[in-house]
Amino acid sequence: MATDLTSLLKDLAEFGKRNDAVTTERSKKMLNITPETGEFLELIVKAVRARCILEIGTSNGYSTIWLLKGARATGGHITTLEMQSHKIVMATENFRRAGVADLVDLRHTEAGIFLLSESQLFDLIFLDSERNQYVGWWPRLSALMAPGGLLIVDNATSHPAEMADFIALVRESKAFITSLVPIGNGELLAYREP
Ligand SMILES: C[S@@+](CC[C@H](N)C(=O)[O-])C[C@H]1O[C@@H](n2cnc3c(N)ncnc32)[C@H](O)[C@@H]1O
Repeated sequence: MATDLTSLLKDLAEFGKRNDAVTTERSKKMLNITPETGEFLELIVKAVRARCILEIGTSNGYSTIWLLKGARATGGHITTLEMQSHKIVMATENFRRAGVADLVDLRHTEAGIFLLSESQLFDLIFLDSERNQYVGWWPRLSALMAPGGLLIVDNATSHPAEMADFIALVRESKAFITSLVPIGNGELLAYREP
């Protein structure tokens, strides 16, 4: 484990901001969560003692490293999914710098394909990907949540129109209770009743 994850996360947050300010092509933007959201993710992983974690949308690994700060305390591990090769390269390097590579299974894959073939249940799923896919993914996402597991979805309030159908779908599901947390870009929490 690298000694100073805090300064690495600070560097990555600054890099993401600088990069996204001058990059017009969406696929080249990092689109990282806010640092406050990162702190929230670390806290939640520790508080719910999540061990088996799935992240959809790795980018360069910024949010993954926050999740890992929690997971190293719970004895957990993270599977994280990214479909763009150049971001896989960046995330691999950032996990090496963070000293957390042994706790991460970084998959170069399209998330919909992964969700269809996966059967392992997850204690925590962090969803931060292309929002127009979420409604279609919901049957598999909900099936892969362990009883007592938690789904956290970024951009729940920053993109209300794009998220409305998905949020309504999750709220209709009797197996889950939900809450919208006004932190960063807004986090939807959906807890699967045991
Ligand atoms: C918002 S960014 C993730 C940011 C990251 N969670 C962070 O905060 O550091 C979304 C990422 O999801 C990836 N992505 C989009 N659709 C995907 C899909 N269907 N399967 C896998 N990755 C996908 C994009 O390439 C992009 O890097």
